Amino acid sequence: MWNEKYDRDDFLYGTEPNEFLRIASLVLPENANILSLAEGEGRNACYLAQQGHQVTAIDASEVGLEKAQILAEAQNVTITTQLADLNSYDMGTEQWDAIIAIFCHLAPRLRQKVAKQVIKALKPGGFYISEVYAKAQLQHNTGGPKDPDLLIDLVEIQQSMPQFNWIHAEQTEREILEGTGHTGIGWVSQVIAQKPIGNPTRPRT
Ligand SMILES: C[S@@+](CC[C@H](N)C(=O)[O-])C[C@H]1O[C@@H](n2cnc3c(N)ncnc32)[C@H](O)[C@@H]1O
Repeated sequence: MWNEKYDRDDFLYGTEPNEFLRIASLVLPENANILSLAEGEGRNACYLAQQGHQVTAIDASEVGLEKAQILAEAQNVTITTQLADLNSYDMGTEQWDAIIAIFCHLAPRLRQKVAKQVIKALKPGGFYISEVYAKAQLQHNTGGPKDPDLLIDLVEIQQSMPQFNWIHAEQTEREILEGTGHTGIGWVSQVIAQKPIGNPTRPRT
């Protein structure tokens, strides 16, 4: 499905980064090692690389990732792309300074699995940054999935990473103008969460 959507001359969500990510990424340390989930055509990975970060971008669409590399070349930055399905991708252990997921809309069971991997794969003190459409987005016809199961409310994100520190956690309505894919006022869940320095996978005693 995504290969067909991306098989076009322009970029479905444009070549500018997601506006929330632009601001949220200010929390990142210099030269951060970042994993971008469901990167698509590369706009967010290229922006982070422009800021001096080392970015690995994964997506299940080879067409999207080919365009991501074309965008990186045009912007004179280097990004690593990996064709991978989040159903089977292993993010590793305490490996990343940040993991980002912008409009990464997965089925509920896979979302839970991915959240557990994010908790494990971030270094202590690492950041999880995400913006996704919330369930109330069904009111609008401005982008995002039409299946309510794929829309994600803030409470669910927070419950899936209970030990994290919430630097920013908001469910809000904002204007999103990103290519022809996101075209106006939308309901979103936004988070900037930090993994505690202690080991959050061990129960507290
Ligand atoms: C709405 S697009 C967002 C793309 C990009 N993050 C952006 O904001 O421009 C959703 C992306 O999720 C990817 N995706 C969906 N399911 C996936 C899965 N199981 N594993 C990896 N990528 C997936 C799609 O290929 C698509 O590129």
